[in-house]
Amino acid sequence: MYVCLCHAITDKQIKEAVRQGDCSLADVKKRLGVADQCGKCARMANQIIQTQLEFE
Ligand code: FES
Repeated sequence: MYVCLCHAITDKQIKEAVRQGDCSLADVKKRLGVADQCGKCARMANQIIQTQLEFE
């Protein structure tokens, strides 16, 4: 599903970024650009990152 509509970023892309070593919203923001425009996706993106980190 789309998490960040501004950049058409999906939850799968965010999970993959964590698998590649990102461990914070700032990291994923740098890699994908998530939450760098309107910011509405920040909370959901962060939840996905935290959940994914638990599986790492
Ligand atoms: Fe992600 Fe706007 S929805 S920056």
